[in-house]
Amino acid sequence: MSSASIADARARAQVLDQDDPLGLVRNEFNIPTKAQIASTRLADNDDPGAPSTSDSAVYLCGNSLGLQPKRTPVRINQYLSTWAAQGVQGHFKPLADSPLPTWLDADAKAAKLMAPIVGAAESEVAVMQTLTGNLHLLMSAFYKPDINGRHKIILESKAFPSDHFAVETQLRHHGLSPETSMVTIQSPFSEDNILSSYDIMSVISTHAATTALVVLPGIQYYTGQLLDIPVITAFAHKHGIFVIWDLAHAVGNVPLSLHDWDVDAAAWCTYKYLNGGPGCIGGLFVHERNSRVTKAITDEKPEDGYSNRLAGWWGNDKKTRFAMANKFHPVGGAAGFQLSNPSILDITSLSASLEVFELAGGVRALREKSLKLTGFLESLLLKGMKEEDNALFRIVTPADPAERGAQLSILLADGLLQTVLQELEARGVIVDERKPDVIRVAPAPLYNTFDECVTFAEAFSLALEAAAKKRAQQSTSG
Ligand SMILES: Cc1ncc(COP(=O)(O)O)c(C=O)c1O
Repeated sequence: MSSASIADARARAQVLDQDDPLGLVRNEFNIPTKAQIASTRLADNDDPGAPSTSDSAVYLCGNSLGLQPKRTPVRINQYLSTWAAQGVQGHFKPLADSPLPTWLDADAKAAKLMAPIVGAAESEVAVMQTLTGNLHLLMSAFYKPDINGRHKIILESKAFPSDHFAVETQLRHHGLSPETSMVTIQSPFSEDNILSSYDIMSVISTHAATTALVVLPGIQYYTGQLLDIPVITAFAHKHGIFVIWDLAHAVGNVPLSLHDWDVDAAAWCTYKYLNGGPGCIGGLFVHERNSRVTKAITDEKPEDGYSNRLAGWWGNDKKTRFAMANKFHPVGGAAGFQLSNPSILDITSLSASLEVFELAGGVRALREKSLKLTGFLESLLLKGMKEEDNALFRIVTPADPAERGAQLSILLADGLLQTVLQELEARGVIVDERKPDVIRVAPAPLYNTFDECVTFAEAFSLALEAAAKKRAQQSTSG
């Protein structure tokens, strides 16, 4: 970027940051300093609660791992104190001055906080397990192939590997071959595999009579494309096909109305835009029409009164869970899909972060800022860079804000990726990479600022120059 365009961008960013109604929410987060990002010592992390300063790193990686809310260590310490002082009583004994639920109620409390984030009734959400595990559990309940009828699963050709593996192994688990039962969607037109709803619907159409299930991402992890969840769901339903959505990159990022969109089922992780912490407990949605329990345990064949699933004691109706009778009788709703008593450490961490979502006014308020923030970053990359920089990268994420969330995926020219990442890191700018040549940059509206977008654009311009120079040197010496 030229110094004139940096000065101009900084002035605009200053106004936007001052006008930002969510600006103070940033103070809810531990923002790493540049020194911490560069450090190789644990001891240098000792002051995580320090106020953010000009020495703060620019962290644009909430699409991968969200930053730590300051409440997280507070709530975790309260949990640890409860465990230390109460032992097993922590499961059921409320403490008058504690903001935490008893451990027996921690899953229900977390589901209550999660429900508005995904646009669901409380009973349609369970906070449990992990994303890939939950995809398998949902498939165990809702993928019932019939080799002479509906047996295929449709997914995108560039699905996140874990989703691909989950689908492939589910097929094998049922004695089917991915060769004949797995269909992958590829865009016939887009070199970046941006999938139009038409691309997806035409594949569904072609295989409609033999397809049992579609598995798709709400937001594609590599391109950052937001798919039209209600339109694709409705189209699949018209053909009698069940759809499971992987919402890893959509949850906490864009508003979702899973119940009203008539989504069958969905799963997500909580360590990206939800800031639950690395590997934190996942979430799952099952539309209420798919999780009814219509027979009492005293009826004949009570197992005919609900869809079968891989079960555990935590999915059992709470009223009979501790009777220890070996008769599984799920509670209605998503909670009936739970297996084990949840990690309270995890759920406490997640619930601390979900408190911040409440404080910020929910995902719709965040989306309002996010549209401006990502749009501002995009305009810097499209209009603010030097001409020679423009030849070295291209944004692959759709330009229409309705077709993306916070993330912009930037495709670099060959041979630049490693140097660009090193140069950004050296300037205290953290983004992530997806091989072969993409960096993903995600300004998170909870804690990122407009000014940080300028810092990124400036650092990116310098990083591109350094990388192009190095590449030229290597080609002359090679
Ligand atoms: C789109 C998508 N699906 C699946 C996964 C796997 O998640 P987990 O390791 O929590 O099962 C990820 C992880 O980042 C992801 O981005």
